[in-house]
Amino acid sequence: MKIKQIVFGLSLLALPVFAQQPVYLNDSAPIEDRVEDALKRMTLEEKIAIIHAQSKFSSAGVPRLGIPELWMTDGPHGIRPEVLWDEWEQAAWTNDSCIAFPALTCLAATWNEDMSYLYGKSIGEEARYREKDVLLGPGVNIYRTPLNGRNFEYMGEDPYLASKMVVPYIKGVQENGVATCVKHYALNNQEFNRHTSNVILDDRALYEIYLPAFKAAVQEGKTWTIMSAYNLYKNQHLCHNQYLLNDILKGEWGFDGAVVSDWGGTHDTMQAIYNGLDLEFGTWTDGLTMGATNAYDNYLMANPYLELIKSGKVGTKELDDKVRRVLRLGFRTSMNKNKPLGSLNSPEHGLAGKRIGEEGIVLLQNKNNVLPINLNTAKRIAVIGENAVKMMTVGGGSSSLKVKYEISPLDGIRNRVGSQAEAVYARGYVGDPTGSYNGVVSGQDLSETRSFDVLLAEAVEVAKSADYVIFIGGLNKSNHQDCEGADRNHLELPYNQNKVISQLAKANKNLVVVNISGNAVAMPWVNEVPAIVQGWFLGSETGSALASVLVGDANPSGKLPFTFPMKLDDVGAHKLGVYPGDPTQLANKRDTIDVIYNEGIFVGYRWADMQKKSKPLFAFGHGLSYTTFEYGKPSANKKVISADETITFNVTVKNTGSIEGQEVVQLYISDKKSSLPRPVKELKAFKKVKLAPGEEKQVSFTIAKDALSFYDPAQKAWVAEPGKFEAVVAASATDIKGVVPFDLK
Ligand code: GLC
Repeated sequence: MKIKQIVFGLSLLALPVFAQQPVYLNDSAPIEDRVEDALKRMTLEEKIAIIHAQSKFSSAGVPRLGIPELWMTDGPHGIRPEVLWDEWEQAAWTNDSCIAFPALTCLAATWNEDMSYLYGKSIGEEARYREKDVLLGPGVNIYRTPLNGRNFEYMGEDPYLASKMVVPYIKGVQENGVATCVKHYALNNQEFNRHTSNVILDDRALYEIYLPAFKAAVQEGKTWTIMSAYNLYKNQHLCHNQYLLNDILKGEWGFDGAVVSDWGGTHDTMQAIYNGLDLEFGTWTDGLTMGATNAYDNYLMANPYLELIKSGKVGTKELDDKVRRVLRLGFRTSMNKNKPLGSLNSPEHGLAGKRIGEEGIVLLQNKNNVLPINLNTAKRIAVIGENAVKMMTVGGGSSSLKVKYEISPLDGIRNRVGSQAEAVYARGYVGDPTGSYNGVVSGQDLSETRSFDVLLAEAVEVAKSADYVIFIGGLNKSNHQDCEGADRNHLELPYNQNKVISQLAKANKNLVVVNISGNAVAMPWVNEVPAIVQGWFLGSETGSALASVLVGDANPSGKLPFTFPMKLDDVGAHKLGVYPGDPTQLANKRDTIDVIYNEGIFVGYRWADMQKKSKPLFAFGHGLSYTTFEYGKPSANKKVISADETITFNVTVKNTGSIEGQEVVQLYISDKKSSLPRPVKELKAFKKVKLAPGEEKQVSFTIAKDALSFYDPAQKAWVAEPGKFEAVVAASATDIKGVVPFDLK
């Protein structure tokens, strides 16, 4: 045996005496003590190693100290399939299919915080079972334009609704020992030029519209990570932005978690060091659009950072702060000894998806009470449209999934009506016959040789002889049709669907149009079609949730989380702009393009309320039921309040119909006189109430001065100005039930 081997053997004998105890040994100590303990044991190289990726979706741990790697996964609607080490392509494992939950616009449309918690708990259990430490979601970017390709991943146009609906989701996920990564912080409100758009907006729009949901995620949801966006603000990329990461997120809000870059969002080592980035992912290190294979040591916060420290050009203070945040994330997730085991593809998760879908589907219009379908009389139901059969869980960008199952609308209807009625299908039009993303394929053969006219004629023929016609169309997450990386080019429905719908309306008076989308669309046929349903991307239980609402098993209670404008010009971002970017700069192909939010705080219904000549096609907060509700006259417990008092508004709501239903009572506040321009009214409270037939309940809202305040850039503070206010009780932004005046002293 060689000398070397003898020496090595002897050294192993000595190991137990001098070995560094693994960091997790004293795992009963408070997290902060464990962070400091681990930090002081780590070498410089080990500190650098844990602040950037080692693979497409993981970052290194410290093997010597027993600190595990951190594993991330997309996305907001379900757990992405495993990918190859350094690829976007799926690795074709056979144990990583998942349940796809409804897109987050549908969750927002439930206006039900219990549904948000159920969602977070369910998806958190799936992430936990798949051994993931960070779930890359939810997204809460505000819906500034109906063209934004990723609005389906977000929670609508109103900061208060998004702030209320994001918190329970975070709680539900993190109870599983899995971190949420709320994204994309901030001002990522379009996909067009998302890497190079430099957003310019006033501080009121920033603080009153675009930041509140992120602030709630941090201060109320206690999210353990935040994902910084691709775009720029004040000409600094959001992934290393002094203003939004250091001054506001970590400074004003006291965020103690880790900032994770969007994949490829990091562009500069010095800025990454000093401007608040903690975990660098997806950097394209060789300057190409995609990275050199396994070039993780070339990451901007890898060897370049190490060299700067070793050469004395930068210190280690910033590095230690980053490492503390990453270690804290680890002790909350990968090294969390108390986390549950999770579960995957359980019936409970399927049921959760169905329930969220049922509560989020919005009944937009129901003339002559065409809906619900009466199965006692219906014998033939014509189901028309490509979206009745097309898989929607594959595609759309990083939220794409490999699902255990997906029930199509047609299958859901057939399963539900059984032998009571025959559901006859006709395609009606051809949209996107493909169905694959990153190696996941839908397996559907949607190829089509027949012409549009032939398909249209067939659909009309099938519709003529049916008792009901259900047209299921909309968008489909293909390029420019609600998809990451590509905004829509217009508000219209694609693939000539308007013509199909108009022809169907002539063929059968019992026509129902179901729009599957995450965005508003133009509806030129709105007066020709008796019933219209906003169907959302509903995930694995699409067909069962839709069928349940269409036949009345579930009484629809969803409300729109964003305005449906009549036309693009009715949207502030398009009327005042700038969208999608400064035209001169676009023409000159500048490196970064200024996107100026001239409309400021007047986004969504805040804009629509100001318009004298136009009104929305369907308003924010709009949604019908199969029953009817009657509101009493709202009242207040006082007429005048001082700045430190609360005021309570009461209103009775009665179910005047014959079936149980849920109503979302909305409270908006209107400041009648202010030193700075303010919207006509702003949502400041809501409650979803369930009422049996004939039942009446009193709904109460207690608010304080923060509900009366606006952000004053001059004072850099929220101010509530004394004067006259009105509490507006409503069933939508345009369906006002009563107004209660009061004064702030
Ligand atoms: C994508 C998306 C982000 C996603 C990440 C990882 O580009 O912007 O939402 O989580 O990269 O796929």
